Amino acid sequence: WQAKDFQQKVINYYRQHGRKHLPWQGTKDAYRIWLSEIMLQQTQVATVIPYYQNFLDKFPTVTDLAEASSDEVMHLWSGLGYYSRARNLHKAAKMVAEEFNGDFPQTQEAIESLPGVGRSTAGAIAAFAFDQPTAILDGNVKRVLARCYGIEGWAGKASVLKALWQRAEKNTPAQDTAQYNQAMMDLGAVVCTRSKPRCDQCPLSENCYALKQDAIAQLPGKKPK
Ligand code: ADE
Repeated sequence: WQAKDFQQKVINYYRQHGRKHLPWQGTKDAYRIWLSEIMLQQTQVATVIPYYQNFLDKFPTVTDLAEASSDEVMHLWSGLGYYSRARNLHKAAKMVAEEFNGDFPQTQEAIESLPGVGRSTAGAIAAFAFDQPTAILDGNVKRVLARCYGIEGWAGKASVLKALWQRAEKNTPAQDTAQYNQAMMDLGAVVCTRSKPRCDQCPLSENCYALKQDAIAQLPGKKPK
């Protein structure tokens, strides 16, 4: 696919089938979006929702979270797993309170300086909260791009990761970036699943390298043994 056609197909898919009523989608509050993205890094949507709501009830603003005790934060996180996320979350909230005067940072670079926030998560927050044209590349998006464009090899390898980011950057539209990013996450999570992808429901199937070459099981490439 050319980037333009790819964007169009993906955004149309979002308008017709995308998830639009998740609890963190009705807001432009960067604190809420950040909290949801951290929780969603390694945990499924259905599990995250009640935790997300409990956190916001207890800590409505980033300053409230910064002022909490670690015990309180860890207690509220308990059950979500990957506890370094909670420790980084608390550390980052203190950083926002102290170094950014309680205002959530607004550029990809500043957002990425927060502990626990990598390039993709920073791109998601900048796009969702501040309508910036920033690219994302989480595990779901990697799978869609690797299959569609036949980007071979394991994403843990620097050259492969670089090729994926180049494709992600190239395909990300300057307009409607938030919708496009959400659509890519949804496509990877719901349609282009690791095993048994629903290619009959995919807006990109007519021009997907992996489908054409019967290489779905080989893409994305796995870690070499
Ligand atoms: N996974 C990571 N971010 C997400 C989001 N914003 N919506 C749904 N799933 C996600």
